[in-house]
Amino acid sequence: MIKIEHLQKKYSNVTPLKDVSTEINDGDVISVIGPSGTGKSTLLRCINMLEKPTAGRIWVDGEEITDPSCDIRKIRQKMGMVFQSFNLFGHMTVIENIMLAPVKLLGKSRQEAYDKGMELLHMVGLAQKEMNYPDELSGGQKQRIAIARTLAMDPEVILLDEPTSALDPTMVGEVQSVIEELAGSGKTMMIVTHEMAFARAICNRVFFMDEGGIYEDGTPEEIFEHPVRENTQRFIWKSKILEFDIKSSNYDFRALFGEIDNFCLKNRTALKMSNHIRLVVEEMVIQLMLPVLEDPDINVTIEYSAVKENSKVTVKSNGHAFDGLRIENDLAVSVLKGIISDFHYERLDEGELRNLIIVELK
Ligand SMILES: Nc1ncnc2c1ncn2[C@@H]1O[C@H](COP(=O)(O)OP(=O)(O)O)[C@@H](O)[C@H]1O
Ligand SMILES: [Mg+2]
Repeated sequence: MIKIEHLQKKYSNVTPLKDVSTEINDGDVISVIGPSGTGKSTLLRCINMLEKPTAGRIWVDGEEITDPSCDIRKIRQKMGMVFQSFNLFGHMTVIENIMLAPVKLLGKSRQEAYDKGMELLHMVGLAQKEMNYPDELSGGQKQRIAIARTLAMDPEVILLDEPTSALDPTMVGEVQSVIEELAGSGKTMMIVTHEMAFARAICNRVFFMDEGGIYEDGTPEEIFEHPVRENTQRFIWKSKILEFDIKSSNYDFRALFGEIDNFCLKNRTALKMSNHIRLVVEEMVIQLMLPVLEDPDINVTIEYSAVKENSKVTVKSNGHAFDGLRIENDLAVSVLKGIISDFHYERLDEGELRNLIIVELK
């Protein structure tokens, strides 16, 4: 029902959306996740034309909304948007807030708008608040009213941009359960959220946004259990990264081990894990690799996943093909064999650093 082709949104100094193409089907409930600044809000705002795309085309129900002759008000009525900050009118009661757009924009009678408004207030569990002003409500209640107000327009698509992130933690649940009910009702929805368990529970599809677009698109199971691409894995597994380059045997290893200790401390790795990370750097990189390189150039990336509680160390180096772990009876090798759960070596075809080693630590 929504088709997006080569969507681009450029601001003067950033281009959050470089080239987005996708199709959203009727009844899809899509969780949009990803690091901040990756264009999640921009994508939602382009879909309902709150932002004008700088290139590309969008169709809703076969009608091209990016066509300059398209009546954007009509399209927007099909798409409701719920914001982080509620945006209720403070000088109007709850029921007036909900009745406003249906009366003004859809030409409904006040009675009709009132009846529908009360029905929606019941749905969000706030019928008793109809005559209150927004100021008299908690954040969670305001957001439930904002959702009711969006539904009053009977939109075909609902776009929610971090609907619970401005709320006190005690109120997140009440808003999430309203959204969950909505998601179960067959409405097409896109929801930007940082609450992963919630995202997973309500959606049938996930967009992970990064690098200027939808970096990975899949079912909740695919994205949350078996993410395929590197950035998705790092995000889902909450991986933290420490990277350094060793370009001389006079490298300041004391400072490096200080940095590794800090990294482990900050990420609360188990003591055993931080010892193993140190050992890999010391035994593999410093004892086995460094001495055989004439003009060393070694790039090391330590990656720790708080979710999987494991570490991965990726080492790239110049020089001849590395066969370090095949040397028998070497102390360093036996130490390494005791702590590595997976070892991968590859001789790359091109580049300066053609030895690639990836080890996973127990
Ligand atoms: N109106 C704007 N003018 C200029 N830059 C903007 C504007 N809106 C967003 N941006 C920039 O675009 C990038 C993506 O923003 P946004 O879509 O809000 O990301 P997200 O919602 O994923 O955190 C950010 O770098 C942000 O600073
Ligand atoms: Mg945002």
